[in-house]
Amino acid sequence: MSKSKINVGLLGMGTVGRGVYRILKDNRAGIEQKVGAPVDIKKILVRDPDKDRGLELEQGLLTTEAGDIINNPDIDIVVEVLGGINPALEYSLRALKQGKSLVTANKDMIAAHGKELFQAAGENGCDLFFEASVAGGIPIIRPLKECLAANRIRQVIGIVNGTTNYMLTRMSKEGLTFDEALAQAQALGYAEADPTADVAGHDAARKMAIIASIAFNTRVSLEQVFLEGITRITTEDIKYAAELNYVVKLLGIAKESDDGIEVRVHPALLPEDHPLAPVDDVYNAIHVSGDAVGDVMFFGRGAGELPTASAVVGDVMSAARYKLRDVSGMSSCTCYGEKYVKPMGLTSTKYYIRLNVADRPGVLASIAFVFGNNDVSLASVIQKHTTGQAAEIVLVTHRVLEKNLQDALRIIKELSTVNEVSNVIRVED
Ligand code: NAP
Ligand code: HSE
Repeated sequence: MSKSKINVGLLGMGTVGRGVYRILKDNRAGIEQKVGAPVDIKKILVRDPDKDRGLELEQGLLTTEAGDIINNPDIDIVVEVLGGINPALEYSLRALKQGKSLVTANKDMIAAHGKELFQAAGENGCDLFFEASVAGGIPIIRPLKECLAANRIRQVIGIVNGTTNYMLTRMSKEGLTFDEALAQAQALGYAEADPTADVAGHDAARKMAIIASIAFNTRVSLEQVFLEGITRITTEDIKYAAELNYVVKLLGIAKESDDGIEVRVHPALLPEDHPLAPVDDVYNAIHVSGDAVGDVMFFGRGAGELPTASAVVGDVMSAARYKLRDVSGMSSCTCYGEKYVKPMGLTSTKYYIRLNVADRPGVLASIAFVFGNNDVSLASVIQKHTTGQAAEIVLVTHRVLEKNLQDALRIIKELSTVNEVSNVIRVED
């Protein structure tokens, strides 16, 4: 071993950075035993060095100059927990070019720039780790890359956004409206002040782009992930779903079949007996199906100071072990293939459709005719309630092509007897 200790530079000391600091300090002795050398934080980059961080930090530890970390020859590993693309990407690339291994929790940066970061790591003999970028404290990147590497992964289905899972749980268990559930999530500090990335599905889409790239060994870009958030989900839909023995979840779905791969994020009806159905509140879970292992599921806290820092520090310890042994490339890019990603129109699933229609003879027949003409086969039709001249009907289809369903809906929306297509939710059996 050429080194007797490992020095870490921390870029950022917000929620996750604070957790990393705490774990490295509180568990220092055990970490030293497991790594084979002490692992210490040498410098921390922040914007505001005068901010109260609720920690006793030694004098001179904080800096507002990224160069104090990136260009410091004593620092072996840089931990990027700033968030966003810039300056996180610029600092990360500069650190790798200085031969420092990089640990990041930044899904935005990995989903959009993973390729160039891996390239920089490879060219400069260092490693890149990003376990915390997907599902916080839950180990999923390393299990996919290492423990499950023998498998051909067929499918990964996950609840990978804690905020929306919390909201849907409250809407389901307490009958809260979307706005009430969002306000509660914000009050509890789960949702961001601007919760768009959570409720519109962007956060989950970034995580699924990363997961799918690793699971299927091909680079899946954010643009290739179909995305629909939970903003249209109502308590009525959740109630009707329950009557049909389903729960409503925001799912990230990545599947490989003979005609290509598909990666999508959208709300879905999930059977009550599916292993992901009881995953409630802010918890995350990821269900993986491999040809050899069968089904495995990972469950835990997908966000928060210590759970996320747990994954970051685990990565720091791996990077430290490699640094001590003077080896690199142990965490190299696994996207060696180039697979076809199917457009959403070519995917198929079942659908729940809620319609508000005129309550008179022949209306249902005219709707069924349009579905039939577009190869959309119906599995069940339930008339919910009638108010004056209108009726609410809920239809569930058999598995059909998305393109056919959308073609049918375009025509149905124009029928004079249809007041409104109130909602369409995919059903994942
Ligand atoms: P955060 O609380 O907003 O903290 C960001 C930190 O970075 C702050 O200390 C801030 O400094 C510093 N910073 C930001 N921009 C800077 C700049 N231009 N120059 C210097 N310092 C800068 O963020 P977070 O929640 O810890 O998240 C960090 C990363 O972890 C993100 O990529 C996020 O997606 C990821 N992540 C977070 C969670 C979670 O539960 N929070 C879970 C999984 C992954 P000041 O303190 O001085 O303002
Ligand atoms: N905003 C994310 C969530 C946590 O609610 O799951 C960070 O990935």
